[in-house]
Amino acid sequence: MGLSTVTATRWVERWEQQQQRYAFDREERFTVVADVIEHVTAHSARPLVVDLGCGPGSLAVRLSGRMPHARIVAVDMDPVLLELGRAHARASVPAAAVRYVEAVIGAEGWASRLGLDGPLDAAVSTTAMHYLPCDMLRRVYGELAGMVRPGGVLVNADHLLPEEAADIAVHVGRRRAGRQHAFSYEDWESWWAAAERDPELTDLFAERRRRTERGSGGNNGLTLNRHAAMLRDAGFRQVGPVWQVGNSCVLVAVR
Ligand SMILES: C[S@@+](CC[C@H](N)C(=O)[O-])C[C@H]1O[C@@H](n2cnc3c(N)ncnc32)[C@H](O)[C@@H]1O
Repeated sequence: MGLSTVTATRWVERWEQQQQRYAFDREERFTVVADVIEHVTAHSARPLVVDLGCGPGSLAVRLSGRMPHARIVAVDMDPVLLELGRAHARASVPAAAVRYVEAVIGAEGWASRLGLDGPLDAAVSTTAMHYLPCDMLRRVYGELAGMVRPGGVLVNADHLLPEEAADIAVHVGRRRAGRQHAFSYEDWESWWAAAERDPELTDLFAERRRRTERGSGGNNGLTLNRHAAMLRDAGFRQVGPVWQVGNSCVLVAVR
């Protein structure tokens, strides 16, 4: 039996809360990402966008709400989060708007698993690219530069530290999150532990445990300038942050 929409929605709503602890001013950051995509795709009738490390589709669903004409391919390596995303999206977005794909970004042949039928207008990502080890991320940026059309963008919203005064940036971000009551929500470990106890998710967690390739699970710690340099090296023409609260940042790279 498939996962019910009610259960999926409950877990996605809890996900949305716990993620606020880590992605400071998360909702505004999503809105800014959508502002960028809307601007860049203003002349595309059916923009094609990939959401990298989509989790349960937090950004994909919001983008689809803002841009119902967009085709969004949401990719992640986690079968639990993907299935929550699929089941939740059934309740919130038209079926054709978001397609969920399982792949380990950076692994051999990951891009061909996306099943793209043309160049991307945009590649977007929220709170995910920090998982990729530096060498892998460099390779992925290079591959994405070959997949995004000229004039299209890569938008990376993540915790990206400034080169200097980084501890102050983190403090400012945390204070903002605190004012938004982000720390009143459960944390990452608590969300995963509680989800694993849900009988409706038992099979999905078993599937998750069977996966051997789990990515790095770490934090590459790359600064904003390092990301920008890697994106320029990859072939993006204009690269710069368009929004930042503390270390929570939206970095845009135009192809
Ligand atoms: C902190 S979550 C963020 C999810 C979502 N973008 C959001 O903003 O809520 C990071 C996501 O990146 C995914 N991820 C990390 N490394 C990955 C990789 N190499 N390939 C695919 N997904 C990856 C994880 O499975 C997880 O769903």
